[in-house]
Amino acid sequence: MEKNIIELIDIVKTFPGVVANDHVNFSLKAGEIHALLGENGAGKTTLMNILYGIYRMDSGKIKVDGREVQIRSPRDAIKLGIGMVHQNFKLIPAHTVTENVILGSEGSRLILDVEGAAKEIRSLALNFGLYVDPLAEVWKLSMGERQRVEILKLLYRNVRVMILDEPTTVLTPQEKKELFISLKEMCSRGKSIIFITHKLDEVFEISDRVTVLRRGKNVATKVTRETSKVELANLMIGRPVVFEYVKNPLKPSGIALKVENIRVLDEDGNLKLKDVSFNLRFGEIVGVAGVAGNGQRELAEAITGLRKVYSGKIYVCGKDLTNLSPKKFFENGVLFIPEERLGVGTAPNLSLAENLILKTYDRKPFSNSILLNYKEIQKFSEKLVKDFEILCPSVRVPVKFLSGGNLQKVVLARELGSPVGGDGHVIVAMYPTRGLDVGATEYVRKLLLKMRDEGNAIILFSEDLDEILSLSDRIFVMFEGKIVGEMLSHEADIEKIGLMMAGVMGS
Ligand SMILES: Nc1ncnc2c1ncn2[C@@H]1O[C@H](COP(=O)(O)OP(=O)(O)OP(=O)(O)O)[C@@H](O)[C@H]1O
Ligand SMILES: [Mg+2]
Repeated sequence: MEKNIIELIDIVKTFPGVVANDHVNFSLKAGEIHALLGENGAGKTTLMNILYGIYRMDSGKIKVDGREVQIRSPRDAIKLGIGMVHQNFKLIPAHTVTENVILGSEGSRLILDVEGAAKEIRSLALNFGLYVDPLAEVWKLSMGERQRVEILKLLYRNVRVMILDEPTTVLTPQEKKELFISLKEMCSRGKSIIFITHKLDEVFEISDRVTVLRRGKNVATKVTRETSKVELANLMIGRPVVFEYVKNPLKPSGIALKVENIRVLDEDGNLKLKDVSFNLRFGEIVGVAGVAGNGQRELAEAITGLRKVYSGKIYVCGKDLTNLSPKKFFENGVLFIPEERLGVGTAPNLSLAENLILKTYDRKPFSNSILLNYKEIQKFSEKLVKDFEILCPSVRVPVKFLSGGNLQKVVLARELGSPVGGDGHVIVAMYPTRGLDVGATEYVRKLLLKMRDEGNAIILFSEDLDEILSLSDRIFVMFEGKIVGEMLSHEADIEKIGLMMAGVMGS
């Protein structure tokens, strides 16, 4: 049996109103990939931030190679050979890959030798399959490439323990495959990896062992091949989870959204949508499959009024809304779950309750047009917190203190749980379960199906083909700004969708 290189013993960390880590134990063996699994707010990021010297623990011990150590900053952690890649990357966009990699490490190397560094980075990249041009400027890179830079930065500092916080969230399926190959390569070269996730499939694809946290407590550590998806889901959320969804028969009514030959340009004037046309009916879910970056975002923004169309028409319930404001779209019943939940999605310094009524505060019952009715707002927020299982000390906390996944639930709750006028809505859902744990994913999927059955029209963008197949009535495949395929979901063929996504064939 390999020996432990890292031991976290009895770690306690509290924030006002929450015990984020409640006597947690965790160990990492040399050469293993250890998944840290837990639902949103379980305390995964907090625990790793303690190991990486970002947070100070209230009590507990950290041992590296059997010796107790004090880790007061990421610098201390790096010296001990421990590195972390955060959920939100911390690169400087205007600098090159090489500059980003060596930034902050030159002190230990005395001379700033950019050319030498570029060479070293190139060879690290080659060894670990982390392809990226050392001379490229970071702002030009895709999210997958930026992540490689973050990893290279740690390899360049010669860490032997790599902590990755939900690394696949920003990746395309292809990039994810490549990342996993690199991670395995790292392990075979003696590195150890802590892999934070709440995706059960990934646990089985990549890890040797898995530790489950629930509400700040350890619930179990298992050898991955000796456990199952069902067991882990149960441990993670404390109840059995549904993996299959029951879909009622389709009862579509009138046309909710009609898109006619729209063309959309990006900031640089490139054509991102090329004559896209389709209808969406009340009572149906249309799933849009495709590798991110093939026009999905532009399409979603166009049909919610966030992006102007260059030509073509958009009708909601027969009304021409082409190039009107997002507010007009909203008032006509178009609801949007944006891809970017931080920033566009939420106001970080406002409270949870305020974020929940961000779009509806000027309506009854929250306001009588002069005064806000705090009692109603509180009641409403507390109901949403309960329905969406948002983990928070109270509805008065600023949302910037919520965990990543809980923040997403806030956006979902606001968009799907708000009382807006009209009967049927058009719901534009961009990756609605991305970053959510199994419990919350199940809730959101069931909610979308319920909203469909209640007569709403839903267009669902997702990179998860299983999600698209299990929820949609019809499926579109997007490739390079066009809808290259359309099929009924019960006739859909995964292989064929995959080929269309790669641009190999159209229907
Ligand atoms: N800086 C902070 N201030 C106050 N509370 C915090 C802070 N950081 C985390 N918390 C709280 O601690 C708990 C654990 O959060 P943490 O970010 O560790 O969860 P997580 O398991 O990483 O979740 P996710 O999957 O959503 O990223 C949450 O209730 C969160 O609101
Ligand atoms: Mg987290």
